[in-house]
Amino acid sequence: MNIGIFDSGLGGLHIAKSIIGRLPQYGYVYLGDTKRVPYGNRTDATIYQFTKECIDYLFAKGCVLIIVACNTASARALRKLQRTYLVHHYPERRVLGMIIPTVETVVEHRYQRIGIIATNNTVSSKKFIKEFEKAAPRVKVFQQATPLLVPLIEQGGKQWVPSVAAHYLKPLLKKRVDALILGCTHYSVIKYNIKKIVGKNVSVISQDDVVPKKLVDYLKRHPEIEKKITRNRQRTFFVTELTPYLKKTSKAWFGKKIQLKKVNVV
Ligand code: DGL
Repeated sequence: MNIGIFDSGLGGLHIAKSIIGRLPQYGYVYLGDTKRVPYGNRTDATIYQFTKECIDYLFAKGCVLIIVACNTASARALRKLQRTYLVHHYPERRVLGMIIPTVETVVEHRYQRIGIIATNNTVSSKKFIKEFEKAAPRVKVFQQATPLLVPLIEQGGKQWVPSVAAHYLKPLLKKRVDALILGCTHYSVIKYNIKKIVGKNVSVISQDDVVPKKLVDYLKRHPEIEKKITRNRQRTFFVTELTPYLKKTSKAWFGKKIQLKKVNVV
């Protein structure tokens, strides 16, 4: 069986690349819902439906463990999927998200004033805030929705990123945060732009750095899942929409050898 990695688009390729780099022995199936990206401004019901359809597709492709490499889906759909759908339909399989491993990492590093940038939907879910309240109630958390960043990143507007990001980051920098969480998968793509804006005194927490290590820990703690994953080093990349631009982007973000295959998940 495989490890599945799901994102609303191609941003999750950065997470996939760092996970595969760390754990190259396993078989992986990536699914990017490029036809329906972005999820960031959609309703809970729609995010749940899209996420469930993609998860079902990955299960049908033999995934025993799926990483939801999309913060919006992790914030808005994951808990319900785990507690209702999975329990009844796939009790032997697991789906993990982005938010808990990110919060755990920040808590382990003992940061005290945390800034978070994310999509509108992740920010309004307050999911990061709730997880910090459970794990480290004394830390101060400040959020900023940054809805223009995903379209700029996905659609080739990278030259506008520094000015738009600087505008969004101003209120967080005023709060004197000591760590900044990039709470959206796509922001791994611009982490160096962000580091330049926030300067040396703010640690930038990027999920492509955080998640592979947490996955290694998870697999150690869950040998019953780990032993089901095939060690065949196969990688398959599915998308729900395939254009020349998406092909080019995937090569830039993952590597020249990537081959995207277009599929219908519904
Ligand atoms: N990948 C999504 C996330 O991490 C952002 C893109 C979207 O809005 O779909 O939140």
